[in-house]
Amino acid sequence: MRTHIVTVEPLGAEIECREDQTVLDACLREGVWLPHACTHGTCGTCKSQVLDGDLDLGDASPYALLESERDEGAALICVARPRSDLTIEGEVDRDEGVDIHPVRDFTGTLTELQDAAPDVRRLGIELDRPMVFNAGQYVQLQAPSGETRPYSMASAPSGGSRIELHVKRSPGGPATDGWIFRDLAAGDRIHVSGPYGQFSFRPARNEPVLLLAGGTGLAPMKSMIQHIEHTGSGHQVVLYHGVSTAADLYEHSWLERFAAEHEWFTYRPALSREEHAGRRGRVPVLLAEDYPRAAGHVAYICGRPEFVTDTMKALMKGRLFPRDIYREDFYDAGDRAAGTSVIRSPLIRR
Ligand SMILES: Cc1cc2nc3c(=O)[nH]c(=O)nc-3n(C[C@H](O)[C@H](O)[C@H](O)COP(=O)(O)OP(=O)(O)OC[C@H]3O[C@@H](n4cnc5c(N)ncnc54)[C@H](O)[C@@H]3O)c2cc1C
Ligand code: FES
Repeated sequence: MRTHIVTVEPLGAEIECREDQTVLDACLREGVWLPHACTHGTCGTCKSQVLDGDLDLGDASPYALLESERDEGAALICVARPRSDLTIEGEVDRDEGVDIHPVRDFTGTLTELQDAAPDVRRLGIELDRPMVFNAGQYVQLQAPSGETRPYSMASAPSGGSRIELHVKRSPGGPATDGWIFRDLAAGDRIHVSGPYGQFSFRPARNEPVLLLAGGTGLAPMKSMIQHIEHTGSGHQVVLYHGVSTAADLYEHSWLERFAAEHEWFTYRPALSREEHAGRRGRVPVLLAEDYPRAAGHVAYICGRPEFVTDTMKALMKGRLFPRDIYREDFYDAGDRAAGTSVIRSPLIRR
């Protein structure tokens, strides 16, 4: 396979990239960090300017990379592959206290496969060696078809070679309906790569923490909670978990027990279709009631894009602004087709 040299400005870093490899993948494997979120050409976070050279733009969503941007030499480097030596310009600044861990390929064995809630499965995977990652990051899980899907790690970075994933069924979805909820069985060999993503706990921020999860958006929050406990960072944490009914609450006993044992941690289930502890409502609604002024906190939001957007709006009404909000949107192929996945505000952090 031919390779080309990719020069990343303003760092001046030179990286070798195969013709069948995406530019982002080559950079992340060399430990050169560039902004990215979905890694599937859907959200536009990885948009970079190509200063010199040719590339194949790959499967970039027309909503995330507009025709006019293509004409001006922009590319989504999570799906673009080099066709000559290249020079690209990326935003290479990182937040304080966030480590960079090069992406690697791993094989493993599925040791646990449990129905955690209706339409949610918990996967425990024993990797061939430990993965080093930041709490909140995700892996790409390879389906038997060779297609990959991103899933956040629910296990803590200190968990050794075992990682845990929480997967929600998408009706008709090839990875979930067509594999994880159909043929996958304990003992199967698993292929993942990682770690990916910039949604991770920011230890250097000392403000009280709001963790706001919708459905399986709980996964990275569970990783963060365990990480905070493991490092003894001293953060005060309130977790809201939004689901429809009590039957959809998973990790409920573990979270209740954890809250009882740790004074720094508070757990608030938010049920949209039933009462819980005398209240009923989605996370944005309960949040608006509990925090008419949210300023002074740092918030982490994760779940389906509509959940993330609504929750973000509730926080902003409480005068908490994008510099204090980190988000992970669980985009899927439907969001990509609808083009609802592109966030154009440069203020919004991932
Ligand atoms: C960074 C990141 C982290 C994530 N982490 C998690 C996680 O921890 N847990 C989790 O459960 N999920 C997570 N997701 C979502 C996950 O990656 C998959 O998108 C999800 O599991 C669905 O995969 P699938 O192959 O089953 O369905 P997909 O192929 O993604 O399809 C999803 C739905 O869209 C429909 N659809 C497909 N194509 C179209 C179309 N053209 N028009 C209209 N509808 C269409 C499908 O029928 C299906 O119902 C994450 C996503 C991202 C981006
Ligand atoms: S990370 Fe490249 S488009 Fe989302």
